[in-house]
Amino acid sequence: MNADDIDRVLLDADSLRHRVADLAAEIDRSFAGEEILAVGVLNGAFVFLADLVRALASPVQVAFLRAASYGGGTRPGELSVEAVGEVDLEGKNVLIVEDILDTGRSLLGIRAAIEAARPKRLEIVVLLDKAERREVNVAADHIGFAVPDEFLVGYGLDYAGRYRNLPYVGVLSRTVYGG
Ligand code: IMP
Ligand code: MG
Repeated sequence: MNADDIDRVLLDADSLRHRVADLAAEIDRSFAGEEILAVGVLNGAFVFLADLVRALASPVQVAFLRAASYGGGTRPGELSVEAVGEVDLEGKNVLIVEDILDTGRSLLGIRAAIEAARPKRLEIVVLLDKAERREVNVAADHIGFAVPDEFLVGYGLDYAGRYRNLPYVGVLSRTVYGG
């Protein structure tokens, strides 16, 4: 990457670490010491999930799912949600772990798919919330940071597959995506 691909750092590594620790404590309280099945949404949530589960005091299992929307054109396509490997959600305390809540369409579909598998309890944690972009009614139970409507990369978030490894969340320069 070029040094000027990132306009500015929005959340540095220290702020992320502190907030993730607070979120973990909040989630521990919410599940009251019962075992949690943390289900990360690939690929974006992998960094956040790795830090979050290490900050939890509750017993925890980890699983992943993938969500892809098929469509294009003017109407948002059908969302397909598939588990990675064998994942049994029935009767479990499920925590969906997602990087960012934007229009809300992905999380709406993911939540419906998980509810259909009859978990005992279902909560959602998102690191970032771009509330002003919401198009459907879905909310997270735990939110790391409210963020402005800008294209963000780093700490798992990508642009065209890149920048996920940045240790901070930054605003992508418009020179990169020609906006
Ligand atoms: P939604 O269905 O519009 O809420 O989409 C959420 C998904 O869009 C996230 O899981 C991200 O993969 C992606 N996304 C939304 N905003 C950004 C961003 O600023 N940077 C990188 N990915 C984003
Ligand atoms: Mg994503």
